Amino acid sequence: MTLDILISDKDLKEITEFVHKKRGLNLSYFKPAFLSRRIGVRMKILNMTSSSQYAQLLNSDLDEVGTLYDSLSINVTKFYRDKKVWQVFGNKIIPDLLKDSKISEKSRIWSCGCASGEEPYSLAIMFSEALDNPKNKIKIQATDINSHALQKARKGIYTADNLKNLDALLITKYFKKIDSTKYQVINEIKDLVSFNLADITTFPISYLDVIFCRNLLIYYGKEAQDLIFKKFYTVLKPKSYLVLGMDETLWGHKLQNSFLSLHPRDRIYQKKLPSENNLDSFSNKNQNAVISNYTTPTDRLSNFIEAK
Ligand SMILES: C[S@@+](CC[C@H](N)C(=O)[O-])C[C@H]1O[C@@H](n2cnc3c(N)ncnc32)[C@H](O)[C@@H]1O
Repeated sequence: MTLDILISDKDLKEITEFVHKKRGLNLSYFKPAFLSRRIGVRMKILNMTSSSQYAQLLNSDLDEVGTLYDSLSINVTKFYRDKKVWQVFGNKIIPDLLKDSKISEKSRIWSCGCASGEEPYSLAIMFSEALDNPKNKIKIQATDINSHALQKARKGIYTADNLKNLDALLITKYFKKIDSTKYQVINEIKDLVSFNLADITTFPISYLDVIFCRNLLIYYGKEAQDLIFKKFYTVLKPKSYLVLGMDETLWGHKLQNSFLSLHPRDRIYQKKLPSENNLDSFSNKNQNAVISNYTTPTDRLSNFIEAK
């Protein structure tokens, strides 16, 4: 049995402030229990028992700041994770999107927290199956804060085991075999996706048709989740879609009434028209005014808090 290391509130605050100053990531938005666990894991690896000793190490060793930062980003993912959600998305949402979108306009999709790329590539493949000329009709932005995961995503190389949720025809059509165990996403699919190293809170994006934000918010406290939902509300077009992870929900959040819970079991939401919700005071105009003043990721979140 492994015993959890206790991190004192004082040390947690010190560590949080230090990483914020050095890396611009506001750790205080993570759930304290998650944060303490990850710091505890680093301390065990370094054979440390006192959190103040670890706080001191962070002060003198910038590499450790980077390692702690990376350890907070959990990159577990897979192609068509939670298959049922993807079935509903493919059968109900994509036809709806294609029906509504104007011929001249590309549908804009954001996979935020894309990890090693399986989620945006799943989207690219699904849209390619539904469209004759996907390059002219969709654009997928994929962002993550973990540079190692993004490096893998850009290469688009996966093992046969990684592809087990895809049927053989899709593998043949959208991947090229590069050796006995590895497959690479073909360029036509890669070209549909742009990867960016970016924090969800600061990535400049707007006028979206779909946001996939799956299995990321679970690591954040409720206050941070509220702020992120506000950003989603702002950057989605009316009637556009938000897809969360199975353990995530809008229920109980300030913006729950601003989205329709379209497929509750699959965590698929649709942004209501402004006239259908109670967000009159939260107009795009107000929001842009706040965004124009942002300088760091944390400023953006802090401004959201102050604006509440
Ligand atoms: C568990 S993975 C989920 C991957 C994929 N969305 C899925 O559901 O399979 C969570 C990803 O979110 C990223 N992440 C966490 N906080 C983020 C933030 N503030 N901005 C962008 N990405 C973030 C992590 O680096 C990690 O790669």
